[in-house]
Amino acid sequence: MGLPVLALWELGGTEGCSGNETGLSFPVNCLDRHVHVAPDKVALIWEKDEPGEEVQVTYRELLELTCRLGNTLKRQGVKRGDRVTIYMPPCPLAVASMLACARIGAVHAVVFAGFSAESLADRIQDAQSETVITVNQGLRGGKVIELKKTVDQAVKQCPGVKRILVSMRTDSKVPMTALDVLLEEEMMKEDACCEPAAMDSEDMLFLLYTSGSTGKPKGLVHSQAGYLLFAALTHKYVFNYQDRDIFGCVADIGWITGHTYVVYGPLCNGGTTVLFESTPIHPNPGRYWETVERLKINQFYGAPTAIRLLLRYGDEWVKKYDRSSLKVLGSVGEPINKEAWEWYFHVVGETRCPVVDTWWQTETGGICISPRPSNPGAKILPGMAMRPFFGISPSLLDDKGNVLLENNISGALCISQAWPGMARTIYNDHKRFLETYLTPYPGFFFTGDGVYRTSEGYYQLTGRLDDIINISGHRLGTAEVEDIVNHHVAVAESAVIGYPHEIKGEGAYVFVVLKKDSGYTQETLTAELQELISKKIAKYAAPEYVQVTHRLPKTRSGKIMRRVLRKIVEDKATELGDLTTLDDHEAVQQIIEGHKLLVEGWKSC
Ligand code: WTA
Repeated sequence: MGLPVLALWELGGTEGCSGNETGLSFPVNCLDRHVHVAPDKVALIWEKDEPGEEVQVTYRELLELTCRLGNTLKRQGVKRGDRVTIYMPPCPLAVASMLACARIGAVHAVVFAGFSAESLADRIQDAQSETVITVNQGLRGGKVIELKKTVDQAVKQCPGVKRILVSMRTDSKVPMTALDVLLEEEMMKEDACCEPAAMDSEDMLFLLYTSGSTGKPKGLVHSQAGYLLFAALTHKYVFNYQDRDIFGCVADIGWITGHTYVVYGPLCNGGTTVLFESTPIHPNPGRYWETVERLKINQFYGAPTAIRLLLRYGDEWVKKYDRSSLKVLGSVGEPINKEAWEWYFHVVGETRCPVVDTWWQTETGGICISPRPSNPGAKILPGMAMRPFFGISPSLLDDKGNVLLENNISGALCISQAWPGMARTIYNDHKRFLETYLTPYPGFFFTGDGVYRTSEGYYQLTGRLDDIINISGHRLGTAEVEDIVNHHVAVAESAVIGYPHEIKGEGAYVFVVLKKDSGYTQETLTAELQELISKKIAKYAAPEYVQVTHRLPKTRSGKIMRRVLRKIVEDKATELGDLTTLDDHEAVQQIIEGHKLLVEGWKSC
């Protein structure tokens, strides 16, 4: 691989940098503190795309990388409070970039490296970032991903960007632009000591973009002290993390799970954390468990979508590998169905490891509802998030805003008291923050999720109450997709609905009314929309189904009746409910028939 990251460490000399602990700032808590006690303890294990090529980074080495990177950022003109966009796959320099921003008081905005150039450009512009950090190329599932090219495309639309710091993940040279700075080369010139900036506990630490039910993705703002405290505590207590454990969260650093449980929680606890660059099926469906055996992972934390996928490949791929190191199995990002839960518990964990189904969100900063196996005798039921974490007070509300006090009841999940890890605002749009989370149920934080409280008082999540869908654990606002579809020349109007998908949890299903004489058919439009949405958002957002219809079901006042469409795509056309406000019953019949034809056509392919 290109310029070896390791060469940087051989320059030596971080020892002198860990002296300043005034205020016990964020980076000191994640690095310097541990360097004093155990400099040679492994902080990161970079599990690269090809199995067996893992790279270990100690706390001393990570501090040094962070300091050199921090000094590079400063020399390039990055100042306290500036936003820095990071578009990198999981790798030590991505973690060092996040920590370096924190160290100099800059605000990082990591963008998942699967997002398209347009999505990246939107996020760079919204954050007003002048700096982007990326890699020349990514490697995932044996494929090369041209990340720098995507950045170049994005930056063409972002005149405010002044510099692109490029790390060499592969040997391949990529065309350079006038903005490019070779990251490793610059880091080598810098001092291995960078004093941590003293920050206020409520200063911004990072922005992370996530989809909402309306408009463009919003940059949620997390602050320093509360976020870190919540990350560290939840990591310790939910996973029963002990000193010397190897923590394996396979999420990408581009999502909140990667921020809190790949990077900040484990590092604040002085732990050893795995950075997983690959996919669950590369080079074969045994990849996770082979990694568990080789790295001796103690806590494994992943998404139900991957569990459902692996379950289909059968037990042999699991049993082939020694999983005796495992102590806790975690699930995150979407509801875990009973079958997947049972397989995870019985086959992967050999009934030895408690499964923690953890409910939380980008907004909550860390896990809010989850079983806690560190609590001896704690009951755990399949597919249930069970109990609130310390300091979290969940409340169920009905549509009239009444608090539901009884058990055995469903309602909107709200949180009635502030907690340390909660997002503080939406970047540059506090009004939207208040409107989205605090106005729907005055006095409560509204999560957007529905929940059922069992007769024993346990919590079971029942899915989103708004127009956010969850594809393979990735959030997507249906409004974002509709916005793109409605701009297509052939489209008069559209509605995007989530439908149940066996592996992905949900998929996107698009209903389209064509403009008169558009010349398009359902087939030609499907291919174009799939490409367009991949290009404008990301591949995961591309719809599997596009159904062309003459009309959309509307109320007499002209509002699209989404709940009717939702029932149809869930194959529950016999349960459409109250249709008294529906303006055109025939349109619904036609849609039901069109849906059957489309789905059956697919099945017979
Ligand atoms: C959903 C991911 C059921 C939920 C950490 C939430 C879940 C959204 C669970 C947040 C779970 C997350 N059971 N649903 N254990 N965990 N969700 O912001 O709808 O990417 O609101 O954060 O995922 O997604 P986000």
